[in-house]
Amino acid sequence: MSAGRPPGPRLFIKKSIDQVMREASSHSLKRTLGPINLVLFGIGCIIGAGIYVMTGNAAATYAGPAVMLSFVVAGIACAFAGLCYAELASTMPVAGSAYTYAYTTQGELMAWTMGWLLVLEYGIAASTVAAGWSGNVISLLHQYGVDIPAQFSTSYIQAIPDANGVLTFSGGHGLNLVAAAGILAVTLLLVVGVSESATVNNIVVFIKVGVLLAFIGMGVAYINVDNYTPFIPENTGNFGTYGVSGIFRAASVIFFAYVGFEAVSTAAAEAKNPQRDMPIGILGSLFVCTLIYMAVAAVLTGIVPYKELGVPAPIALATDRMGVEWFAVAIKVGAIAGLTSVMLILTYGQTRVFYAMARDGLLPKAFAKLHTKFRTPWVGTLILGILIAVVASLLPIQILGDMVSLGTAVAFAIVCISVMSLRKSRPDLPRPFRAPWGSVTPILGVVFAIVMIAPLVIDIYNKAMKGDTIPAMLLGSYIAIGALIYLFYGLWNSRLAKGLDVLEDTTMTTPLQAGAHGLEDPKS
Ligand code: ALA
Repeated sequence: MSAGRPPGPRLFIKKSIDQVMREASSHSLKRTLGPINLVLFGIGCIIGAGIYVMTGNAAATYAGPAVMLSFVVAGIACAFAGLCYAELASTMPVAGSAYTYAYTTQGELMAWTMGWLLVLEYGIAASTVAAGWSGNVISLLHQYGVDIPAQFSTSYIQAIPDANGVLTFSGGHGLNLVAAAGILAVTLLLVVGVSESATVNNIVVFIKVGVLLAFIGMGVAYINVDNYTPFIPENTGNFGTYGVSGIFRAASVIFFAYVGFEAVSTAAAEAKNPQRDMPIGILGSLFVCTLIYMAVAAVLTGIVPYKELGVPAPIALATDRMGVEWFAVAIKVGAIAGLTSVMLILTYGQTRVFYAMARDGLLPKAFAKLHTKFRTPWVGTLILGILIAVVASLLPIQILGDMVSLGTAVAFAIVCISVMSLRKSRPDLPRPFRAPWGSVTPILGVVFAIVMIAPLVIDIYNKAMKGDTIPAMLLGSYIAIGALIYLFYGLWNSRLAKGLDVLEDTTMTTPLQAGAHGLEDPKS
């Protein structure tokens, strides 16, 4: 049955909430999750390459030991956006999350934009984590005397600090085949339909948190307090290279370390008591991670002088410095296990966003084609897995991480704006969870998103002005590719614009949402 094309200018046609709810999986999800599950689930999605790798890079390049303060700024930014996510998720408990919210509240162009931003938040984030994963794999192998040649273990483009400590990018180096191999392995698992069950999630959380707590516990004894002076190194005259601007620039880098917490909001339909438990799940997981992150940053910059931390596996470096071999091995193995699970979650997220967009006709049908046996969108998964692997082999973690932070912060701002517009257009909708303090929360969400975005944009601009145009060109290409795909495909094939319902989804039995956060066993 088709509802006909909705009224309004072509680029701003909106899906109705009723249609979204009708299209949602017919499986009604059980309300089984309490606050502890939600906090654990959040931690499982959050902890990854951000803390294992970016913290060292952010300290070395931007903030020095004051990177601890950057975690507070980035954590607060996430808290406001998180509350807005939770409100939307409880109002529209459907798959596709932020992309779907934008389609209903702001129309097709914004929905496309959101879908394309989520490529950064999931796909490019998976490449970023793969880069961190490869750093730890290489460091572990090195410990056993196996050295992978640099041309197969370093990215084509690399970040090299100049005399003032400012990163400059140049091409023509190696190809990070280790990172690519990691992504391809995860892709194959996703093709055959592996998703994390609640039990696996809990084990992974245990390992990830365990590794970091062990690092903190053992590492404290190896801290040299001299390494904390200067706590905020003096700015070098370049925006973001140390000083107060450096704390904010570092915050925009380690913002990456929090990406994933919004997945908690997608569990709103499964929370026993959403009004009470969603804020606990979101703020609780953010709070726990912030404390752990600050402690790890303190130990890391206390053991290794901050200037030496700009390496592919900083925590591994610090454990090597402790000189306790078994401990270094344990930390690296734990980091590799934790990062593998994040690669899986992020690559999974990317395939499901494209799946939702393809069902709406905004991307080719191939991304929605399900395997008859595995019931996974296998063609899309393979295409995306290969693309993510190629990106991971070409780009360094510094550029990748910045692109993820930028895209995610813009997506957060759109979500906060969606909350305000939906409250205005549909005040009648039941909202099992409502973000507190009226419009203050969404407005602060937008403000803090800008605080994350501004240092990145200023840095990219400054670099381009000095002749280092690689980050600006990559960002420009990304925007141009997205615009072209929409202009030449989505605009002409949008099923909503043609007055058609979404492509049928009859074969996928796993509820998308439950799969997305792996909290429900599909067979139960
Ligand atoms: N927050 C995730 C990480 O740090 C994406 O890897």
